Amino acid sequence: MARKIIIDTDPGQDDAVAILLALASNELEVLGLTAVAGNVPLPLTELNSRKICELAGKPETRVFAGCAAPLSRKLVTAEHVHGRTGLDGPELPDPVMPLQDQHGVDFIIETLRSEPSKTVTLCPLGPLTNIATAFNRAPDVVEKVEEIVLMGGAYFEVGNITPAAEFNIYVDPQAADIVMKSGAKITIMPLDVTHKALTTRARIDAFRAMNTPVGTAVADFTDFFERFDMAKYGSEGAPLHDPCVIAYLIRPELFTGRHINVEIETMSELTLGMTVADWWGVTDRAPNATFMGDIDAEGFYDLLIERIARL
Ligand code: RIB
Ligand code: CA
Repeated sequence: MARKIIIDTDPGQDDAVAILLALASNELEVLGLTAVAGNVPLPLTELNSRKICELAGKPETRVFAGCAAPLSRKLVTAEHVHGRTGLDGPELPDPVMPLQDQHGVDFIIETLRSEPSKTVTLCPLGPLTNIATAFNRAPDVVEKVEEIVLMGGAYFEVGNITPAAEFNIYVDPQAADIVMKSGAKITIMPLDVTHKALTTRARIDAFRAMNTPVGTAVADFTDFFERFDMAKYGSEGAPLHDPCVIAYLIRPELFTGRHINVEIETMSELTLGMTVADWWGVTDRAPNATFMGDIDAEGFYDLLIERIARL
């Protein structure tokens, strides 16, 4: 029985690789993609979501547009990382497949209410605006969520958009706070893990060597995407953040972490969006998330390359 998931996303080259991995893996049933404003504005994240589904040869995938702005803050985007389109690298054709009419938040609520309880996993890959809006609008659906597996936050790795905060949490800290306090089962893939899943020339060459439209596109995504992180960190490659979420669903043994308390800074301008992770258990705050700390990077890329080759 395939695991039912909803991918909430702001493509973004790394979101694209995560979506491709999910669509290539029959352990998973993608019920839909809900686009959110993040890396680039919503009109682009929904368009990019449809481009990626067509690239995967899955134009029947349902794509919904969700929230166009954070709950209470002005949208911050990341064109400096992802390019003006949010999906710079390969030239992908404009999609033929339609955008669904229903709002992404209503799709999340309706799906959680109609599927058997605890059978749908939410996979947020961007700011948590859609998830928090769904929980605010329909508190009854929180207990129906099987698990939230999200990419976001940082502790030992500290921030990437500010010295203290990771981008997805920083864009909508109020939404992240709502999700962390919701009571849902939460697994977090922070920068602590994703920064250990770096692309390398050999790994990108493995995508290009597939000689398939998808393999070539993934190589073009990562060639474009890595230039920013390599210049900033002086690293050999770029972190493939979002595919860690999907890889966890397929092979959880690739990851190790701790079940700890994680809270979000929502007041201070200096540390806004920081994920205050009680990794060392120095408070009596109740654990509310499994916060990942390590990854088997070789195993992660073996999985990624094997699955992308299937498309
Ligand atoms: O900080 C990394 C996260 O921000 C990734 O999800 C990337 O796609 C951007 O959304
Ligand atoms: Ca993302």
